[in-house]
Parts: sequence; C-alpha cells; structure tokens
Amino acid sequence: MADHRDLRHQPETSQAHGTSCASLAPEQHSLELEPLTPEQPEARLTRRTFLSGIGATGLLAGAAPLAVAAPVLDPEVQEATDSGGVTIKLRVNGREVTLRDLDPRATLLDTLRERLDLAGTKKGCDHGQCGACTVHVNGRRVNSCLSFAAMHEGDEITTIEGIGQPGNLHPMQAAFVHHDGYQCGYCTSGQIMSAVALLKEPIGPSDEDIRNAMAGNICRCGAYTNIVAAVRQVRTQA
Ligand code: FES
Ligand code: FES
Repeated sequence: MADHRDLRHQPETSQAHGTSCASLAPEQHSLELEPLTPEQPEARLTRRTFLSGIGATGLLAGAAPLAVAAPVLDPEVQEATDSGGVTIKLRVNGREVTLRDLDPRATLLDTLRERLDLAGTKKGCDHGQCGACTVHVNGRRVNSCLSFAAMHEGDEITTIEGIGQPGNLHPMQAAFVHHDGYQCGYCTSGQIMSAVALLKEPIGPSDEDIRNAMAGNICRCGAYTNIVAAVRQVRTQA
C-alpha cells in the first residue's frame, strides 16, 4: 500500500547524510577539510569577518542615500522647527488657517479646541473609545483625539460648528432637537458628526444598521433610542 504521510517537514535522516557522504570519494573529503595555512592570511574568511564585512557594506549602503536626501526646509518651516514646532495649513469649516509653531505631538482635537477655539468638539476619553471628539476629515468621520494635527496638512476639516448654526441648523441637528436625542449633551456633537457622515456610507436601511454604524459613539445618558429615531428620520428624508 502507498505511504501518504506528509514528509515536507520531516528532518533529514542521518541515513540520508550517510548516503551522500558515502558517495564522495576519499579525495573529496580531504579537499573540503583542508586547513588554511598562515601564508594565506587573505584567505582566512571566518564567519566573524564575513559578517563584519556585510555589516560595514550595509552601513555604507544605508548612509549614502541618507546623506543625499538631507532635506532643504522652507526658511519659515525651518524657523518653526528650531523652536520645536511646525507650521501647517488646514482648511477648517471652509476657511484656510495657518498654524505656526504647532507642537508636532498636538492632537487634532486639542488643536481645534485650544488653538482655533472650536470647543464644540468634545474631549471624552481622549483614547478613541467614546466618539465625543468625532469630526470629518475630507468628508470622513475620524476620532480627532487619535490623530496628530501635523498629519493633516492641506486637509479639509469639518467640525460641528461647520455644519450648522443657530437659526440655520443642519437637518441632523434639527432632528436631534425634535427627537430629544440628548440629555446632558456632552456626546451630542460627536453623535451628530457621526450621523451626518453615515448618510453617505454604504450601510443597510434598518435601525440595527444605524446602531451598528453609531457603535463608536457612546452616550452615558443612554439617549440611544431617540438618537436612532433622529438618524432614521433624516435618512428617510434624504
Ligand atoms: S475623546 Fe476621542 S474617542 Fe473619546
Ligand atoms: S447626552 Fe449625555 S452623554 Fe449623551
């Protein structure tokens, strides 16, 4: 009967080695093991010297492009960099803004709130877990607490202040008011920004689909039923 064992990972047997060694002529054995003589220093290629050579070659190979690629910075940016900050341009709610001496570690959330006085975007967990900080970047919702502002050069940022104002509310804002989709209101701007973004996302038509799409937005007041009703209304009208 044929043997169907998978032999791909079987270690080579000593018998196999023995067979190949046995097939070598005695002269071939002596050739492989012949020691280097002191008169052949250049032939003393040990494992250590071989690896050292590779390491030096690798360092040189890596160093050359680095030296060539040394960046030439815009004098304005260079000045900011010397003081530890960077200069970036954003479009926020349709307006171009230039941020100078921006800490490269500043989150988009802190930058919006503290540098641009757009305090409608809330800080809840500051760890990407509650959705209170949701804004749109180039039309897509993101947690602004998880994103560095310096990464958004040239991006279009939209906050709750950019989608509607008192007297001229976005339909989603009006629906939240109509359905009492909030209690304390702390999560509400994030909820509305998520809800506006999902109008353009390929989600199903049911309330369950809304709940799943809004799962990243936590409401500690538990206003979920009314939030879903508001979103459903706007989706139906759209
Ligand atoms: S503050 Fe950004 S997700 Fe909670
Ligand atoms: S309305 Fe209070 S946390 Fe949502």
